[in-house]
Amino acid sequence: MAEFRKIGVLTSGGDAPGMNACIKAVVNKALSMGIEVVGVVGGYAGLMNGDLIPLTYQSVNNIVAQGGTMLYSSRCPEFKYEEGVQTAVKTCRENGIDALVCIGGDGTFRGATDMTNHGIPSIGLPGTIDNDITATDNTIGFHTAVETALDLIDCLRDTCESHARLNVVEIMGRDCGQCALYAAIASGAVAVAIPEVPFDEAAALEKIRTLRAQGKRSMIVVVAEGVTNPDGTPYAETLAKRIEAETGVETKFARPAHIVRGGRPVMKDRTLATAMGVKAVELLVEGKSNLVMCEIDSNIVPIDINFALITDRMYKNKLKDGDLDSFTSEQLGKMRTICHRRTEELKSLYKIAMDVSF
Ligand code: F6P
Repeated sequence: MAEFRKIGVLTSGGDAPGMNACIKAVVNKALSMGIEVVGVVGGYAGLMNGDLIPLTYQSVNNIVAQGGTMLYSSRCPEFKYEEGVQTAVKTCRENGIDALVCIGGDGTFRGATDMTNHGIPSIGLPGTIDNDITATDNTIGFHTAVETALDLIDCLRDTCESHARLNVVEIMGRDCGQCALYAAIASGAVAVAIPEVPFDEAAALEKIRTLRAQGKRSMIVVVAEGVTNPDGTPYAETLAKRIEAETGVETKFARPAHIVRGGRPVMKDRTLATAMGVKAVELLVEGKSNLVMCEIDSNIVPIDINFALITDRMYKNKLKDGDLDSFTSEQLGKMRTICHRRTEELKSLYKIAMDVSF
């Protein structure tokens, strides 16, 4: 058992609904174990600047239903450098912070592992709407983002039906099409383009022509933000123009962008956030760190951060020279299994989307 007097909690990177529920879980669990908690304001930038607030039962009262993050967030390029990490460690030492819980995406986990390596035990919790942390089935915020996207698409459907139009909708997700794919299936979209699966534009255009000829009035096409033209510009708008030009179906374009990152978290995100927050505190107290909490087959499972980060790179084909050197063949086998499972799940979901998109 580690003797912690005070832990810090921070949110970093893109915010996600459910982060507040997670903060509340960390605070209440730690306080119930006699551990003080400070909130780091504005992610790693706040840690470098010593921007801290004490957190009590009262400070986290009634935040569980609120979107965004009460601790605010930032992306902090300075923290990628040794000097930034040293400054953050100094803040922890000067303020008696014995350990950290860091809520965010892969950049946040890199920060957590740096802090652990510099003597501040840290645990990462996956908070991002993209659901792009390969080692966990679900990230905090993903389910809410899909529900929000769905609400918006349902609104577009109404007006498309009235006017016999098609609407192309771009849904956030930089490298990952999960939000777009789930929203497409759940909204009955006629086509969906995501970065992970090649998109057959000619087939989509042909399908739209056929469906219109058969009398279908409203149609939705969902495109993930991460699908781009060869010059890097967003594909969604290009596709909208092509659909109208090639099929004659009047086509509108919508980009909800950051709207899908806000709003009240749904039950799944609140409960996942709470379970992960509680487990993170328990593990820190047990003396464990450098872990990321994952949900695997409905269980909360701690995974080594480096293992999770490299599995992510493996899945996203972003491995760098030497990335795999420190892992045993058994660990590499596990990584490949996780990547394979994810790829197969996505492919089978994409097939379902195609099978029913009429
Ligand atoms: O948090 C993930 C994400 O919302 C991505 O889907 C998106 O590409 C990116 O963040 C946008 O980042 P920012 O809020 O910095 O514009």
